[in-house]
Amino acid sequence: MEFIEWSDDYCVGNNLIDIQHKLFFEMVKDLSNRMGSDKHDVKAKDIIQFLQDYVDMHFSAEEAIMSEVSFPDIQDHQAIHNEFSKNIQRFSDELHSDEVSHILDKVLTLTQNWFLEHILTQDKQLMKYLH
Ligand SMILES: [Fe+2]
Repeated sequence: MEFIEWSDDYCVGNNLIDIQHKLFFEMVKDLSNRMGSDKHDVKAKDIIQFLQDYVDMHFSAEEAIMSEVSFPDIQDHQAIHNEFSKNIQRFSDELHSDEVSHILDKVLTLTQNWFLEHILTQDKQLMKYLH
């Protein structure tokens, strides 16, 4: 898969959010590399679960910051987060062992692309509310 490298242009101006976003891109690369090096040891459901836990933790942290700074579009933003989270869960539910590496690659690629788009369009809107 093609990796998206982190760039400081993706920063929204809050340290916690920016560090979590940056770690996220590094984590996707690491997960994909592990998958490529030893497919037999890969437990796809565990990897997707790990990804989901990280994403949910990040969304909660981001929403808490939005709430602190009275970001007006918090409800719409939360709905977008929830929708994405449900999509990851759907991948996990539909996973069959014969297509593990293909599905996992697809999940990681989609997640990475979704995040980049989400950061640049939705998360960036938070910038002007941060002090
Ligand atoms: Fe967000």
